[in-house]
Amino acid sequence: MALNNGNTGNTYISISSLRNSEKPNPNIEKILYVETYGCQMNFADTEIVNGIMNKYGYSITNKIDDSNVILLNTCSIREHAESKIYQRLSELKRYKISNKYLKIGVIGCMAERLKRDLLHKHKLVDLIVGPDEYKKIPFLLENIDETGEKGIAVRLSRVETYDDIMPLRKEGISAWLSVMRGCDKFCSFCVVPYTRGRERSRALDNVVAEVNQLWNEGFKEVTLLGQNVNSYRSGEFDFADLLKACAEAVPDIRIRFITSHPQELSLKLLETIGSYNNLCKYIHLPVQSGSDRILELMKRSYTVEHYLNLIEQARKIIPDVSFSTDIISGFPTETEEDHKMTLEIMKEVKYDGAYMFKYSPREKTKAFELKDDIDDEIKSRRLMEIVELQRNISYELNLQMIGKEYEIIIESESKKSSEMLTGRTDGNKSVIIPKNGTHIGSKVLVKINKANSATLFGELIHKTN
Ligand code: SAH
Ligand code: SF4
Ligand code: F3S
Repeated sequence: MALNNGNTGNTYISISSLRNSEKPNPNIEKILYVETYGCQMNFADTEIVNGIMNKYGYSITNKIDDSNVILLNTCSIREHAESKIYQRLSELKRYKISNKYLKIGVIGCMAERLKRDLLHKHKLVDLIVGPDEYKKIPFLLENIDETGEKGIAVRLSRVETYDDIMPLRKEGISAWLSVMRGCDKFCSFCVVPYTRGRERSRALDNVVAEVNQLWNEGFKEVTLLGQNVNSYRSGEFDFADLLKACAEAVPDIRIRFITSHPQELSLKLLETIGSYNNLCKYIHLPVQSGSDRILELMKRSYTVEHYLNLIEQARKIIPDVSFSTDIISGFPTETEEDHKMTLEIMKEVKYDGAYMFKYSPREKTKAFELKDDIDDEIKSRRLMEIVELQRNISYELNLQMIGKEYEIIIESESKKSSEMLTGRTDGNKSVIIPKNGTHIGSKVLVKINKANSATLFGELIHKTN
């Protein structure tokens, strides 16, 4: 699953739009500020937390200074993700000093991994809540007010899917929607099965109803989320059934999904993706390594041959499908040969994009028992080679798009110029076009004129809706 490098908070309901008073009084009013780190599931979870808290009378702000509850929704995937949170916690001390009513909570995967340790290590933390206990947050906060006792809730659930919670989303064009939670794969390097618990899925009808609602609210695109989204199972329905049901129920909304695991990329799923115009022909299919020996040590449950067969099969069934991947460099015992095999598979598949990481040992995981024996310098050099190769491949693929026409959904003004707009193709490529009377939310046909490795530049041909 793609990771974000932390963010600066989420704008959901700004306080100023909710109230008439000039400035809220953080001593009386319940005002929540959440900062989100990690993968898209965490971003979707923050919307769930905001939905829960809003029901209990909290308004949500994107201004940390206005808040009296700060929650950090955290990630444990690599050491660096956690050290960023420790750093952030020490920065938050000053808010605690200036506002004695302020409560600070750590929620998400780090809360689950470190549990009570976090309370001991960080005196300023009042609240620790794991990913399956978000419904308890309002009560734990109330209890802190009444008893002064710190709150902790870190039990993992086999059933919690937050199916009954309406996420509080920022208005926009593209929405996240978690359809399953947890992971049962236990890849040897990964903490997710420990921080998120067992796989469970939302009911198909409820997901379809939410997609419908998103369309009625003005969203033009929805991304169905799960750590292994294609492990979705609800009664007799699998992920292909869910995609089909959503695609048919709301034929004009564009539907993406992440992250797919090679083990569950069935023929039925590929045929479903190929059969509906509103299902994106884009599959994030992390390979992690191009060496069978390393894949075995990683417990990824496929070989290079099997993976490449899947890609070939997918390209036959969905001719214009594109792929992206995740890659880890420097897994224990990785040799120069293994590394070269990773470069080889990248060249063979020609991924449209990749998220690339240095191996980071995580306690509790199987790989933690292996010696982290690849020098950091070597890991970095290998990572650089992987990044450089991917840049070249992306550039080559982008150049091939020049002169061709693609449909994009306009998402926002371009960061660089208010005269330009940016949107994404079905294959998840960003395209910048001149405004020319087009607006955010429109579906337009564009012709690509120019490209670099990250972005395409085009011109409007005509609107398609
Ligand atoms: N469920 C997704 C991945 C979720 S984690 C899948 O199976 O593909 C996102 C990515 O982080 C992983 O694909 C992997 O490339 C990377 N990752 C996970 N644990 C890691 C670790 N210990 N060190 C480095 N990268 C890691
Ligand atoms: Fe982690 Fe593997 Fe599960 Fe992905 S499939 S979340 S990498 S254990
Ligand atoms: Fe996501 Fe990080 Fe947790 S990648 S599932 S937030 S450990």
